Amino acid sequence: MNTRSRVRTGALAVALALLAAACTSGGVAGGVRGKPGAAGLRDPYFPKLGNGGYDVTHYALTLSYDPADGRLDGRAEITAKATQDLSAFNLDLAGLTVRRATVDGDTAAVNRAGNELTLRPRAEIADGHEFRAVITYDGEPQTITDADGSEEGWLKTADGALALGEPTGSMAWFPGNHHPSDKASYDITVTVPAGLKALSNGVLTAEKKEKDGRVTATWHTPEPMASYLAMLAIGKYDTSTATVFGKVPVLTAADPRIATETAALRARIPEILDWEKENFGPYPFSAAGAIVEPDDDVGYALETQTRPVFPLGSFDTGTVVHELAHQWYGDSVSPASWKDMWLNESFATYAEWLYEEDFEHTPAQRSFEKAFANQGAWAFPPAEPPTPQDLFGTPVYQRGAMVLHRIRQTVGDEKFFEILAGWPEKYRHSTADTEDFTRYVESVAGRDLSGLWDVWLYGDGKPEKITD
Ligand code: ARG
Ligand code: ZN
Repeated sequence: MNTRSRVRTGALAVALALLAAACTSGGVAGGVRGKPGAAGLRDPYFPKLGNGGYDVTHYALTLSYDPADGRLDGRAEITAKATQDLSAFNLDLAGLTVRRATVDGDTAAVNRAGNELTLRPRAEIADGHEFRAVITYDGEPQTITDADGSEEGWLKTADGALALGEPTGSMAWFPGNHHPSDKASYDITVTVPAGLKALSNGVLTAEKKEKDGRVTATWHTPEPMASYLAMLAIGKYDTSTATVFGKVPVLTAADPRIATETAALRARIPEILDWEKENFGPYPFSAAGAIVEPDDDVGYALETQTRPVFPLGSFDTGTVVHELAHQWYGDSVSPASWKDMWLNESFATYAEWLYEEDFEHTPAQRSFEKAFANQGAWAFPPAEPPTPQDLFGTPVYQRGAMVLHRIRQTVGDEKFFEILAGWPEKYRHSTADTEDFTRYVESVAGRDLSGLWDVWLYGDGKPEKITD
């Protein structure tokens, strides 16, 4: 920038500062500078997921649901900070009817197009201003079928519903910035008919009976959470409580029909978390637990924050080790975009290998050799799934875990275990991408590992030899 333009910019800055001082409540001076926030964050797999121009810091959701008619009534209070001067901004919401929206107390204009909800506040929002958007909405939330055929979003169950959101389903039950890169704290309050329970993430902070007999539960998640990890489980549940690490409350729940048969493994959650803490470092959250559903309710287990959800058929030691490991890898350190999915699944799969090494006489080396022999693991490089349908493909899990084992073979056990705990420590409650990972591993290894990345992380097809 030359001197003359610097002088001019200086004069402009003074004029703008005067205008800004004259303007109240964080609005943009004169209302001429703000632009709409982007309608998507250009995720390589879901370009319209998430929205630009602001960062959410907190979601306060107040919901009521009646399984008898399948209707949800919702109020989402979203506290966010503008990252540009905003004339309008988007939220992601699938289906449902928006009744009213306000920004900082004033009615905002609402527009819907596909899964994009646009709010145009009365006054523009200045860069850096913290604002509060309140959206009231209702309707029958939808089930979303993913590219790989699995169902997420809102799943009706025999006695209630389950809300699950990986990778895009959370937009089916609340408006938000539904990309993993925008994490926030949550308060989730849910009212359900008498006789049912409403479970969610974090700590139960209030429970009350309404005058009409319905029951209301409030759940608090103080740590940042990616919206795909938010969860609701509404229905009949038997619950048990325990404590882990001397202070963290553990709440497990199971449908009453399967409460007895799942009790023993549910009771082992503190001991499994203790073992994971030895290997992965301090547990990142202030609550823990699990929810077990009949197989008809859901087709896969999911690492919903603090309290993963399992179908009965996957409620086994290996899957419990896997979903609890995600609390460090995926939930605390979240993917910067869905391209970084392998960072979640490689570590969670490797946790299973390590558990088998420690307790089931199966060295990780043997799991590595077995994965190497699995042709399905070589369909594509784990860091480059070709389509959204491949995000949960075998290479993401098996070849991802092989990458970790190759690192272990290359740097030795001491440095490898330093990496296992150091990675979630460095990016605790944050997000990271594949390059952050390779850079971090090289910094611990003290050397360039591009040969390893080229073959195991990015290479096409199966290497000729099991060592590179
Ligand atoms: N992240 C889950 C796990 O491996 C799997 C979720 C499967 N979801 C799906 N849409 N395919 O623990
Ligand atoms: Zn997983």
